[in-house]
Amino acid sequence: MSSKSGIQNPGPGRSRARTRPTLGARPGSLAPHPFVLVNMAMTADGKIATANRAVSSFGSRRDRGNLLDLRATVDAVMAGARTVDSATVTLGPGPARYRRLRLRRHLAEYNLRVIVSRSGSVDPKAEVFRRRFSPILVLTTRRAGKLKLKKLRAVANAVKICGTQEIDFRRALRWLGGHWGVRRLLCEGGGELNDALFRAGLVDELHLTLCPKIFGGRAAPTIADGRGVLKLADAAGFTLKSMKRVGDELFLVFDARKRASTPGRPRN
Ligand SMILES: NC(=O)c1ccc[n+]([C@@H]2O[C@H](COP(=O)([O-])OP(=O)(O)OC[C@H]3O[C@@H](n4cnc5c(N)ncnc54)[C@H](OP(=O)(O)O)[C@@H]3O)[C@@H](O)[C@H]2O)c1
Repeated sequence: MSSKSGIQNPGPGRSRARTRPTLGARPGSLAPHPFVLVNMAMTADGKIATANRAVSSFGSRRDRGNLLDLRATVDAVMAGARTVDSATVTLGPGPARYRRLRLRRHLAEYNLRVIVSRSGSVDPKAEVFRRRFSPILVLTTRRAGKLKLKKLRAVANAVKICGTQEIDFRRALRWLGGHWGVRRLLCEGGGELNDALFRAGLVDELHLTLCPKIFGGRAAPTIADGRGVLKLADAAGFTLKSMKRVGDELFLVFDARKRASTPGRPRN
């Protein structure tokens, strides 16, 4: 499809050519389920913002570069409503060199953008909606009333209802894969959205930048808030894939551990 800005993007119903590098995409052809990455910067006490949400950007330039590098490997970038309307977030690919990198990888020049908003409370005036470089897809539920849906439909390219009370993320991901050709999806928080993906066992790879700061504060968001799990057996498990120190920051990459393959772990 052609976005409102006229920029070409794969659009609904069209799968992208299978010739491009897989970059860790899930195998499969019919309504493929995207490979899901989560990328977060966190303090040494696991916070992603201060308790008043005033500070949420605290990583180095290198961390920012890491975020843009990762965006240059995916079809779509996703974030929750509070992340989108709490800052000048655009979820875009950034400077021209990253867009050239995308094209060399046979990705669309501009990634799709996905916003998750159960009740449709995301602000239609948020910066992300002012930047028209690529389609914006909103995932929501029937909890969003008619008026909110109408307002969101006016600013988004598609508004998908994926459940009555809660978003069925498996269904949502199948829609992104089958309808929009998303094979790699990068989730950039916040903590509530991440938690739902972790609990559903949908995160394939976790990228964490550990920053040498402590925010503290019981109300400060962490990389996974929301409901969480109540049993060790239900915890999302990962194995460390790589670790790199740059300055005082650690760049960690974890692979999801399949729950069936965690022998010897005590169960509570
Ligand atoms: N350090 C970092 O790397 C980083 C990254 C991202 C964000 N942040 C910061 O983290 C803070 C935001 O985090 P947060 O946890 O408060 O918010 P969030 O996850 O970004 O957004 C929460 C909102 O998103 C929607 N949502 C989240 N999970 C959902 C689910 N499972 N189903 C349906 N809708 C869902 C809901 O919208 P409705 O209310 O509309 O239902 C919910 O109120 C901000 O301060 C942001 O700047 C930091």
